[in-house]
Amino acid sequence: MKLIKKGAEADIYQITWQDFRAILKIRKTKNYRNPSLDSKIRKQRTIKESQIISQVKSFGIPTPLVYFVNLENSSIIMQEIPGKPIHDLSESKIIHLSKIIGKLVGMLHKNGIMHGDLTTSNFILYKNTVYVIDFGLSQNTIKPEDHAVDLRLIKEILNSAHAKIMESAWKNFLLGYKSIVGSANYVKITKLVSDIESRGRYAQVV
Ligand SMILES: Nc1ncnc2c1ncn2[C@@H]1O[C@H](COP(=O)(O)OP(=O)(O)O)[C@@H](O)[C@H]1O
Ligand SMILES: [Mg+2]
Repeated sequence: MKLIKKGAEADIYQITWQDFRAILKIRKTKNYRNPSLDSKIRKQRTIKESQIISQVKSFGIPTPLVYFVNLENSSIIMQEIPGKPIHDLSESKIIHLSKIIGKLVGMLHKNGIMHGDLTTSNFILYKNTVYVIDFGLSQNTIKPEDHAVDLRLIKEILNSAHAKIMESAWKNFLLGYKSIVGSANYVKITKLVSDIESRGRYAQVV
């Protein structure tokens, strides 16, 4: 068992599961939370993640297979996607793949799913396919306001983590997103993104 990432919320290990290389994701206890609330939150997110990771496959989103869920320690064993997070790819690749990411997010929204943590580390490129991971904060919601929150977050990530290519990446993301959700939804949701930005809680990006 090899620790590959110590996240804020979970530890990620590479393991072997019935002869397959697999990922073990364990949600950690947070000492600042009330213990019973903490265990409830960790269980809830583990359940959400394992449900939605499988649910979205039915409408064509590539995700890891879930092998095992253990609610005793809030852990999930899933297929390892042995590719590279989009975050770590070259700038030209990120620009190109932004359109595919936009399409994937459009497919999620069109099917009533908000991802909840759209960063470029939560998309993995493997053999020409972009996989989506990390569904612990996702929700079943068709509210345009929730979908706008997803878009605002990925826009902010592009702006902070990929500032040099932000404009072309965001343009491609929106092209992909619009091609899936259609013009009317696109206009409605991007308008809400501007509203969120102008509310001043967030600074406007570009
Ligand atoms: N199924 C997987 N296959 C390959 N790498 C993974 C997988 N799940 C997680 N990882 C790696 O671990 C990192 C953190 O996992 P993630 O589920 O995003 O947890 P966190 O909530 O800490 O962001 C990912 O960015 C990715 O690099
Ligand atoms: Mg993540």
